[in-house]
Amino acid sequence: MASLKGKSVLITGASSGIGAFLARDLVRRGARVGLLARRKDRLEALVEEIEGVGGQAAWAVADVTDTYALAGALSALNAELGGTDVIVANAGYGRPDPPHKFKPGAAIVMYDTNLFGMLRVIDWVLPRFLEAGKGHIVGVASVASYAGMTNSAAYCGSKAAMRVHLQSLRVSLASHGIAVTTICPGFIKSELTEKNKFPMPFIWETERAARYVGDAIERRRGEVVFPWQMRWLKQVLVRWLPVAVLEGVLRRGARRRGPR
Ligand SMILES: NC(=O)c1ccc[n+]([C@@H]2O[C@H](COP(=O)([O-])OP(=O)(O)OC[C@H]3O[C@@H](n4cnc5c(N)ncnc54)[C@H](OP(=O)(O)O)[C@@H]3O)[C@@H](O)[C@H]2O)c1
Repeated sequence: MASLKGKSVLITGASSGIGAFLARDLVRRGARVGLLARRKDRLEALVEEIEGVGGQAAWAVADVTDTYALAGALSALNAELGGTDVIVANAGYGRPDPPHKFKPGAAIVMYDTNLFGMLRVIDWVLPRFLEAGKGHIVGVASVASYAGMTNSAAYCGSKAAMRVHLQSLRVSLASHGIAVTTICPGFIKSELTEKNKFPMPFIWETERAARYVGDAIERRRGEVVFPWQMRWLKQVLVRWLPVAVLEGVLRRGARRRGPR
């Protein structure tokens, strides 16, 4: 296990949900954290909270779809914290995209945030990690990355591309001393899921999820899927069922629910 004590961890999407709770968790493990998102007030409040319990944190505002603003903000955090040991590409969002509400461009914006946002983070950090011969890249994908679920084409597609990209990086960078961890959560309570009007089986509290992610980072794990029920469901539905049978199940579910 690689101790996070004294390590500097930059987190995108740290103003709420998994990112904010992960920041608190990593500070409890002794890390210094750099927090990035668009909502300045949330970041400032979180830094104040962390400093209030004796932790070290810094914040910077940027939109992960803005290459130059993002690079500038990451560089500012890097300078303030005296380097970067771990970077967590967590910023992202999801929204149903049923065909009767089709909006041209919406899928492109979602890919730009979820997938290209992560790639911009990697563009900024990888040259630094390669030069240092060490580092740890963490990407928050989703269990939704394993199949094209109903009315979630852009979300599932962007998360699938993240997961496969990270897998390739993991095997390619291992010999360079750089670890790559892919986080695939099931349903977790957050601003993202509070809008959902459908049942969310096996949903976890945000703090519990953040602790799980913190453990995965500390252990430099490869790909993690949680909770275990989702890991099992993913295995049965996606890995063992023939694709045509899986799509039949998804189509029947969509017909039963009707448009929304
Ligand atoms: N909750 C779940 O069930 C679940 C399951 C699987 C995967 N995930 C993934 O977990 C990650 C965190 O989501 P969450 O559930 O914690 O939801 P959340 O509370 O809505 O957090 C999303 C974070 O991403 C930031 N963000 C969104 N768009 C951004 C942009 N363009 N530039 C910079 N920051 C941006 C938000 O900050 P600002 O709005 O302040 O910019 C916020 O801090 C996402 O990648 C999500 O896809 C969540």
